[in-house]
Amino acid sequence: MSHAYQRCINPDCAATYDVAEPLFGCSACGDLLDVAYEWDRLPLPRSLREFEASWSERDNPLCFSGVWRFRALLPFVTSEYVVTIGEGQTLLRQSERVAAYVGLSPGRLFLQYEGLNPSGSFKDNGMTACLSHARLCGAKRAACASTGNTSASLALFCAAAGWPSPIVFVGSGKIAYGKLSQALEYGALTLQIMGDFDDAMRQVQQAARHLKLYLANSLNPFRLEGQKAIMYRVLESLRWTVPDWIVVPGGNLGNSSAFGKAWQELRDLGLVDRVPRLAIINAAGADTLYQLYEVRGLRWNGGRPDMRLVEEFYRQLDAQNKRANTIASAIEINRPVNLKKALRALEICDGVVRRVTDQEILDAKAQVGAGGLGCEPASAASVAGVKRLVEEGVIGRDETVVCILTGHLLKDPVATVAYHGTDQKQFEAVLGSRGVKRATFANRPVVVPNDLEEILRAIQLYATR
Ligand code: F0G
Repeated sequence: MSHAYQRCINPDCAATYDVAEPLFGCSACGDLLDVAYEWDRLPLPRSLREFEASWSERDNPLCFSGVWRFRALLPFVTSEYVVTIGEGQTLLRQSERVAAYVGLSPGRLFLQYEGLNPSGSFKDNGMTACLSHARLCGAKRAACASTGNTSASLALFCAAAGWPSPIVFVGSGKIAYGKLSQALEYGALTLQIMGDFDDAMRQVQQAARHLKLYLANSLNPFRLEGQKAIMYRVLESLRWTVPDWIVVPGGNLGNSSAFGKAWQELRDLGLVDRVPRLAIINAAGADTLYQLYEVRGLRWNGGRPDMRLVEEFYRQLDAQNKRANTIASAIEINRPVNLKKALRALEICDGVVRRVTDQEILDAKAQVGAGGLGCEPASAASVAGVKRLVEEGVIGRDETVVCILTGHLLKDPVATVAYHGTDQKQFEAVLGSRGVKRATFANRPVVVPNDLEEILRAIQLYATR
């Protein structure tokens, strides 16, 4: 489509490229690329309400999709190229229990549950967009590096669309079982690299270049176009009112970058009159953005962030041989590829960054579950982050807050069972080794003899709620 193109985010370069080139980085300067549009030549809704028209056309896959029903806001591809598997049928749920836990007033906390996507995480929003772009480019085979969810999503989309098996690079022993089982079951060629995500990310880029593989990581700007739709659905669920805060876990920083772009475009197009504030939450064991943004003061600076701060930080990590380490394996990343775009998002949305411990993450996760939605550890970082920000007075008790629950509970059963279970050895191995001291909200299973009287006695004893 001629009104979309790719543009380097570096203002001193600003090179542009055709929309149908599979690039994943600026050929001139190596910086990240954006998908850009000539909006004044494209048909746009006059108000966000106009998107409601698609609700009555759910038999059209493009209107059913929680991404493509907003296609006027990501108009880089015509419908014949779109690969959709029913992504984005998610919900925004108010949670009184979690509001009380984080210290917000009743009615103020919302959970955007992306675990309902076909592969169980928010990645499907981006995957539908990037695979549609892959078709536009005529790409033959896709690849990604992953902490698990990207690989699950890519594998599912390729299987559903009848594409050749993708090649997925994961850190050996670094991804949760639910996610590994998905990549295997959906037929991906799964390379378990003897290293971590940062190693896998470096290798996949080189392999993709050698073998001309289509890279499905969030370096790919088309992935981020799809992930903008999470913000559109939040707005839709709030009947088009803008919340005060969006809170999201930060790993490779694709989601936060996509959110920033979504809000900037909505504001520039006059479709919203204000934007929410953004809080990006790192795990304490993988806190590069926190260290750079909050401790060292790194800023977007009009597209010219002081990259010496970043290089210096990475040099220190290497000198100390420091590797990312958190129970929230999805965000166990020290070198986030979208760092610059995340700085831009923080600028657009007057953002803050916080780090939370694995203890805080798992306790918040247990509260989310007890409140009737299950999420994986990384997702709960958002809830733990809100608790901190309310305690600090950065988020006011009466502000409206949306936490993005990025992935489903069943992605990582080991973390959950280690937390609630009675096996002390397992607790130590999985959680104690990461500084988790107690399972504050554990719901312990009860072992009973195979005998009715004992069973009835146990029920009487334990069924206190
Ligand atoms: N939450 C979950 C459940 C994730 O899987 C990820 C990222 C994030 C949060 C962080 O999002 O990278 O956009 O900042 N998972 C990637 C993967 C890296 O490979 O599945 P981000």
